[in-house]
Amino acid sequence: MMKYDFDAMHNRRIAGDIKYNCPSDVIPMWVADMDFKVPDEISDALIKEAKHGIFGYNKPDGEYMSLVTQWYKLRFDWEIRPEHIITSPGVMFSIGASINALTEIGDSILICQPVYYPFSKIVTANKRKLVISELTETNGRYQFNFDDIKTKIKKHSVKMFLLCSPHNPVGRVWTKDELKKIGNICLANNVTIVSDEIHSDFIYQGNTHTPLASISDELAKITVTCTAPSKTFNLAGLQASNTVVFDPVIRRKIEKSIAASGYFEINTMASVSTKAAYQYGGEWLDGLLSYLEESRQILQKAFPTDFPISLIQPEGTYLAWLDCRKTELTSTKLYDIFLNKARVWLHKGDTFGKSGNGFMRLNFACPHSVLCEAIDRIKYSI
Ligand SMILES: Cc1ncc(COP(=O)(O)O)c(C=O)c1O
Repeated sequence: MMKYDFDAMHNRRIAGDIKYNCPSDVIPMWVADMDFKVPDEISDALIKEAKHGIFGYNKPDGEYMSLVTQWYKLRFDWEIRPEHIITSPGVMFSIGASINALTEIGDSILICQPVYYPFSKIVTANKRKLVISELTETNGRYQFNFDDIKTKIKKHSVKMFLLCSPHNPVGRVWTKDELKKIGNICLANNVTIVSDEIHSDFIYQGNTHTPLASISDELAKITVTCTAPSKTFNLAGLQASNTVVFDPVIRRKIEKSIAASGYFEINTMASVSTKAAYQYGGEWLDGLLSYLEESRQILQKAFPTDFPISLIQPEGTYLAWLDCRKTELTSTKLYDIFLNKARVWLHKGDTFGKSGNGFMRLNFACPHSVLCEAIDRIKYSI
């Protein structure tokens, strides 16, 4: 029997819960957080801290830094040192700080759509020019269009590339070869890479996550790697992220940009939960990955080839990208049918870019019973 009970149902209909801000008969499967409780060691550490009752200014200590570096060594054989880490309240915060630190207003920044939609928003909100290269999809597998990327980088004098690795929403775990290829294009054209690796702990059988900056010293020098325990351990509400920057000049620039925003340090509970997660959470995560592997199989079986919806098999992340193009319905119409007829709340595919039209994103980090119920409802609604 599994040591951790991922089948357990928990009440999330509490004040301020974004995911469950919907009528009680709707199953929310949109935003990327999980319906599982964190490992007991994290809750216990937070309770102990709460009972301490004094919450003065906080700064992550040496133990925090060692636990983060050990996690990446153990899980990815990636050597980072404490001085390479910049703590921040979130990956998007670090991406914003990197944009401000390393590019100028009007500079071009490249993204590959469909991709996590705040990427495009943060580029334009900071008055940078958005350059989009579409991923190409063949037989349910997405790939970079290297020629298009190269052409666009040169044509628009791109200064920065925002990479999503593993990729939300299409679920690709980029291979070392693909990463090398994209990295070399950036190296040859003086493009700084911000590699968002927030989903890197969710990798399914047969796939391997390679931290881009681990590939070579040259790539390490031009890469800002965004990591966080938030997706892995369901801690998004606690706001902790670790940005790894090897190059001291780039690091200093990002630190200055963060200081200029008036931000000081991650909060005490973010620090306490991150430490407990990386110290005690490994076994829990392995249990969770086995559970999600089964969820992935449930999804695969749910949509046979003669059905108008097919699954883009996720290699990583807990997000399923559903190809609904055979229904000939737009994402807006699909959203409406799934929400109002099936009572299942999914993310509209075109939110992630125009090429996401006809797709929907489903978060499957929930008990199997909920996933099966949602699949049944979706199938009967179409
Ligand atoms: C690829 C990606 N990056 C960043 C985030 C958000 O991270 P944070 O809350 O640390 O800003 C998400 C959340 O879904 C994500 O999927």
